[in-house]
Amino acid sequence: MIEVNHVSKEFVSPKKYPGLKGAIKGLLSNEKVTKVAVDDISFKINDGEIVGYIGSNGAGKSTTIKMMTGILNPTKGECLVNGVNPSKKRMDNAKNIGVVFGQRTQLWWDLPLSESFTILKEIYDVSDEEYKERMSFLNDVLGLAEFFDRPVRTLSLGQRMRADLGASLIHNPKVLYLDEPTIGLDLVVKDKIRDAIKEINERYNTTVILTTHDIGDIEELCSRIIIIDQGKKIYDGTLDKLKRTYGTCKKVSMAVKHIDRIESIDWSVITGKADSVVLEKDDEGKKVTLNFDNNDIEVSDIIHAAMEVTMVKDIEIIETELADIVKEIYNHGL
Ligand SMILES: Nc1ncnc2c1ncn2[C@@H]1O[C@H](COP(=O)(O)OP(=O)(O)O)[C@@H](O)[C@H]1O
Ligand SMILES: [Mg+2]
Repeated sequence: MIEVNHVSKEFVSPKKYPGLKGAIKGLLSNEKVTKVAVDDISFKINDGEIVGYIGSNGAGKSTTIKMMTGILNPTKGECLVNGVNPSKKRMDNAKNIGVVFGQRTQLWWDLPLSESFTILKEIYDVSDEEYKERMSFLNDVLGLAEFFDRPVRTLSLGQRMRADLGASLIHNPKVLYLDEPTIGLDLVVKDKIRDAIKEINERYNTTVILTTHDIGDIEELCSRIIIIDQGKKIYDGTLDKLKRTYGTCKKVSMAVKHIDRIESIDWSVITGKADSVVLEKDDEGKKVTLNFDNNDIEVSDIIHAAMEVTMVKDIEIIETELADIVKEIYNHGL
């Protein structure tokens, strides 16, 4: 179990002034600015959960991950990973965790990938038998054999990410931290990485905490998400609840014979409100899209009303995209 208790992180850095004169002034003045990157965050994560830690750029995601992994010490509060304070007992903690930072590699650049793995096997004291079992599993889910003998610097970004993920799992850690694991990858590789994460979680009950900007990662992997904004936690719950709470807006798109007849429907008769159904037309004037809140009117009422006035040839119901919900939360908070 991971416990994060009222954790904050402040960065103090020299105050900067613009220009060369400013740089000198900054050097001499000794003035400091304090940035609160993480602001009093608490949560608990149970074994075997996959949690998406999301937020816009600069929200404090990486800083939180760094505190959970013990790379950074919190200014206030405490993290406990299976009862161990990661920044105080870094070695104990290291045995239990795997970490991947999407933007940089933990592998030895000039060595063949296979040698990085051999070194990590020694560092983590993995027995030959375990190593064999582990490598065969990792090879299955990540396809490492394809490029196992090549120097890391010659790998493509996708191959490098698969290699990094594999390397972080060589000692079968209980917790896996992934900071932007799919950043910059094409769809095929993304899918591979996601499948691998799912499989590792199912097979070994590995707890996974991942930060991502990729809505696909969240939808495919995370049953729970924590959203942070300017260092503060603003949501913690299931994806379904987030969608149910914030995703009541729907669209019905229809190809109809007489658009003008749809345009003249008075929806307020049904909903009791003005502007409760907002209409958009496509350029050719053949399709009409109706936007509404599911709390005001049911999809079936929309379709029924349309069919009463004209012939409906095709219907498509569009739920709000998760991306839109998340954007909404970023913009307005909760
Ligand atoms: N070492 C540091 N020194 C000063 N400020 C930092 C440092 N690391 C991060 N920050 C600041 O803390 C905030 C949160 O950063 P970060 O955790 O990297 O955000 P995220 O990963 O969500 O994009 C940002 O405003 C960033 O500029
Ligand atoms: Mg980050």
